[in-house]
Amino acid sequence: MNKTMKQVSFSLAATDGMARRGRIDTPRGDIQTPAFMPVGTAGTVKALYPEQVRETGADILLGNTYHLMLRPGAERVAKLGGLHVFMDWPRPILTDSGGFQVMSLSKLRKITEQGVTFRSHLDGSAYELTPERSIEIQTLLDSDIIMQLDECIPLPSEKKEMERAMELSLRWGDRSKTAFDSQMNRALFGIVQGGDDAELRGKSAAGLRSIGFDGYAVGGLAVGEPQEVMFRVLGEITPELPVDRPRYLMGVGKPDDILGGIERGIDMFDCVHPTRAGRHGHAYTRFGVINLKNARHKDDPRPLDEASPNPNCRRFSRAYLHHLVKTEEILGAMILSQINLSYYQELVSGARGAIEAGRFSDFAAETRAQWAAGDL
Ligand code: GUN
Repeated sequence: MNKTMKQVSFSLAATDGMARRGRIDTPRGDIQTPAFMPVGTAGTVKALYPEQVRETGADILLGNTYHLMLRPGAERVAKLGGLHVFMDWPRPILTDSGGFQVMSLSKLRKITEQGVTFRSHLDGSAYELTPERSIEIQTLLDSDIIMQLDECIPLPSEKKEMERAMELSLRWGDRSKTAFDSQMNRALFGIVQGGDDAELRGKSAAGLRSIGFDGYAVGGLAVGEPQEVMFRVLGEITPELPVDRPRYLMGVGKPDDILGGIERGIDMFDCVHPTRAGRHGHAYTRFGVINLKNARHKDDPRPLDEASPNPNCRRFSRAYLHHLVKTEEILGAMILSQINLSYYQELVSGARGAIEAGRFSDFAAETRAQWAAGDL
């Protein structure tokens, strides 16, 4: 390959309405889109071996700057060969930039033009994260897709506050691009902010487009607003993003959020929900979500879904899964995390097939009907 050519690229294979079927090529493997990225916050997708995560159908994982900079430290991970070697996941990794996690997890944080200073939620020690340091850390981790540092604020917020955070995120995007420039084997994504305001979102998208990124994320959603507000913002923003770059909706969501995101032109998603819900005894299936803590499963010999392509959905009875959840056995968390990630991958792979076949709206309607009809 020509050395001056960027080694991460995106191609669109088909569209159906706003929905897109594409592929991101990276030196560590292809990512079929729409894609769901399991979250491996601290160098592990909790409760699963890397090969099990792969077997669910995941092409890419998400890692976190914030957690890894605190423990074990980005320089240490780099010395040990980078995050892929450290956790033995040879495929692509996208890393979040840290700003969002600082805001939700750390203590005594302070945002200035320069960046964000904060104290670790682990031991109270002081850190600074600037756009440049975030790029440096993500490079030390050897991330394939790097996110710019941004400021994500909760909703609802005053317009002035949404505007301030959006403008700051744009300036940080510009600095991130300068710090990143010339890294041929990685991609840098910008992040659209602007709360629930169409004008601010439009300005954010235009500003990011003129800086120029390899992909465009939509941040600042799923932060307290109703789903209809998130869908409205998505419907307004995706037409403002370049057609030939991947679009990533950060931190979203439940299966129906993902279906609605694909419907509005989103290509990539990540969320802790499937693994966290699994650890809390919830199972996602084609027929909706089952709370296995519920006593009504105590004597139920039926598997979760005997026609599922996932062996774990056919193998264990609901009574056994209920027992594992009630006794807080580790195996319960392992099985349910696997089941939920498999279901999420089944959903996005079903969407990919439907977009290719030009029947995405039928697929979405059938999927929703099945969720609604589920007698669980
Ligand atoms: N994860 C979920 N939402 C966001 C966001 O707005 N920004 C970043 N950096 N990460 C996120």
